[in-house]
Amino acid sequence: MTSQTLREARKYEEASEKMISGEERPAFHLTPRTGWMNDPNGFSWYGGKYHLFYQYNPYDSQWGPMHWGHAVSRDMLHWEYVPAALAPDGAWDRDGCFSGSAVTLPDGRHLLMYTGVVRERQANGGYGEVQTQCLAVGDGTDYVKYEKNPVLDEKDIPDGGSRYDFRDPRMWQEADGSYRCIVGNRAADGSGQILLFTSPDGFEWHYVKVLAANRNRFGKMWECPDFFPLDGKWVLITSPQDMLPSGFEYHNGNGTLCLIGDYDRETQEFTENTDQSIDYGIDFYAAQTVLTPDGRRVMIGWMQNWDTCSYRRKHDEAWFGQMSLPRELSVKDSRLYQKPVRELEQMRANRVSHTDVTVSGTVVLEGIRGRRIDMELTVRPAEDHDMYRKFSVYFAQNETYHTSLGFCPAESVLEVDRKFSGSRRAVIHQRRSRVNHRDGELKLRVILDRFSAEIFVNDGEQVLSAVLYTEQEAEGISFAADGAVRMDVTKYELV
Ligand code: FRU
Repeated sequence: MTSQTLREARKYEEASEKMISGEERPAFHLTPRTGWMNDPNGFSWYGGKYHLFYQYNPYDSQWGPMHWGHAVSRDMLHWEYVPAALAPDGAWDRDGCFSGSAVTLPDGRHLLMYTGVVRERQANGGYGEVQTQCLAVGDGTDYVKYEKNPVLDEKDIPDGGSRYDFRDPRMWQEADGSYRCIVGNRAADGSGQILLFTSPDGFEWHYVKVLAANRNRFGKMWECPDFFPLDGKWVLITSPQDMLPSGFEYHNGNGTLCLIGDYDRETQEFTENTDQSIDYGIDFYAAQTVLTPDGRRVMIGWMQNWDTCSYRRKHDEAWFGQMSLPRELSVKDSRLYQKPVRELEQMRANRVSHTDVTVSGTVVLEGIRGRRIDMELTVRPAEDHDMYRKFSVYFAQNETYHTSLGFCPAESVLEVDRKFSGSRRAVIHQRRSRVNHRDGELKLRVILDRFSAEIFVNDGEQVLSAVLYTEQEAEGISFAADGAVRMDVTKYELV
């Protein structure tokens, strides 16, 4: 039975969606049906389709009472909206259905696990949000909340762990048919820990151990964990709050973290080997993965950062928040690599290519422009032993606006800069990342989709993502070099 709250949300979103034209949205990045979107939730393959749910406030383009919005797709690029799946209408989630995940049960039903939030009056008159883990079971369209919710609450948290920071369950099924889930929690030291739970059937859950502890190394609370085997290693991804910067690897505020290591399934012990950021741009958070039917591990993130949400088109826009491109993951030498899903290649049209172009000063090339494009370029010094000082690409460009990528080989630093993208807010608009180059040779793949840029460096060694609200008329692209580079560039429109 759907509740009144959910029925109202479904009616509201259906009517509101009609007021947003296709051109007002990205072409192949998911945006909320209406209103506000944050984290991807329940990313799964179910009933012959990909399902992607999301943190959703249909009624406003600001964060608010969290529902789960819902969309389905066959290629993870073209999404079809289906009715909202969850509304904050239960005794254990009346103040929000926060992030979570999905698995398929042996009887074919779709099981969702999410964080239920209830605001509790504090002694000082303020409120604390008590967080528990809850279930809902459905058929891919309608979901019924489990009568025994919550299935994990403060009794299941180890000593010292906070009942106010206990969220974002990520479930999976083991080969023997039993289930595991990990949940983010704040430990007694004030920083994050990832708790591991087990269940014989997906409904009855038991605490196992702390799978990984932050110990105040990477920010504070760890949100939205995911954990999976890949290329002989195990990968733990999470989104830390309150990061301190560290070199070019981590920046202040809400960040992303990937720990790669080994996991002993017998002792359920995770041993970390390496750490890195997941995305080196401005807007990426709360990533979640799916295992595709053909065995690929694909990750999608919220292409936004809590610290930069004040960069918007206007205050009362019809939608706010979008997902990143889905990215195929791999691990090489204990580093995470990311590539746009190969399905994107099917959208390529109208190829334009220029090879061995010398760039010195500013260059504009025939046919290279657009705001919905896939552009690959390789640069190297025009003359051996004559290293250029800087190479730049400008895009979303007209007389007033541009966003740029600047690469200095001497420092080996790539910078994305959207200062001139039309923003009227004093938030972070630039980010620098250390990248690899071989004697000045660098490879970039730039994907633009109306309101964003995602830059894949050196075949997926690093990614930099940024949202962009520049008016769509600004679609120029130009290249510049201080010194001289030789460049190959191929561009496709994405249709
Ligand atoms: C991360 C997050 C999650 C939480 C959700 C609430 O962006 O803070 O930890 O479940 O957003 O909307």
